[in-house]
Amino acid sequence: MDVETPYIVLSAAMTIDGKIASKSGDPELSDEDDWKEVHKLRTEVDAIMVGKGTIIKDNPKLHIKYYNHNGYYRIILDSNLAISIDSEVINYMPEIYPTIICTTENVPNERVKEFKTKKNITIIKSGHGERVNLLKLMPILWENGIKKILLEGGGILNWSFIVNDLIDEIRLTIAPWIVGGEDAKSLVEGDGFERMIQAKRFELIDIKNRNDYAILKYIRKNL
Ligand SMILES: NC(=O)c1ccc[n+]([C@@H]2O[C@H](COP(=O)([O-])OP(=O)(O)OC[C@H]3O[C@@H](n4cnc5c(N)ncnc54)[C@H](OP(=O)(O)O)[C@@H]3O)[C@@H](O)[C@H]2O)c1
Repeated sequence: MDVETPYIVLSAAMTIDGKIASKSGDPELSDEDDWKEVHKLRTEVDAIMVGKGTIIKDNPKLHIKYYNHNGYYRIILDSNLAISIDSEVINYMPEIYPTIICTTENVPNERVKEFKTKKNITIIKSGHGERVNLLKLMPILWENGIKKILLEGGGILNWSFIVNDLIDEIRLTIAPWIVGGEDAKSLVEGDGFERMIQAKRFELIDIKNRNDYAILKYIRKNL
């Protein structure tokens, strides 16, 4: 029997040239209307997931401002439990947005204990490798009632989801700007594939525009 795994929606805003932040890490790409759409998407999932890089660079709350809702989990991927215990994602309204940190078996017990006892954070260990093993993690999240996840990046984590073939849907906002910079983060980072034939394929199922922004919706293309 196949194991069940959560439905993954990758959500991001990028420039025309595919950057999700400027070279100095400025992430301000979305206009007010786009934030409303992202917050709407957040009302439709069981969890939002981001990588450690996004927590360290942006210190986001990952909350909802524009809609009534029942809350959701905030899931952070952090292989060595390196994020600050004072991060917003740990401290901002945990009763509505409980935080789960997914890490590896390599993490020191002392660190796990600190997050559990001081902040009541749920820690899930997945794999003994350098990074969190996503293929092991997904069925664990499903078993914990997390059936739909909004993956909000950044680029390094997005690549791991792509290479493991875990993305079911993409909601992409393209801001009508070009920022350039080889050090500016792209929608998907990582090693990349050698050949276009290896690229993961998606089917465009919706396209909208507003204020020169394009809003695209793709789903997994089953070949
Ligand atoms: N425009 C947008 O929509 C948007 C959305 C989100 C983020 N951003 C931007 O993206 C930037 C951050 O992106 P980033 O690429 O530097 O970092 P990231 O993708 O947020 O986090 C990557 C880190 O997550 C940890 N991780 C743990 N397990 C992993 C796994 N299996 N695969 C991949 N990573 C794993 C790794 O650190 P350890 O191994 O040390 O744990 C890795 O370095 C920020 O500038 C932010 O503003 C933009």
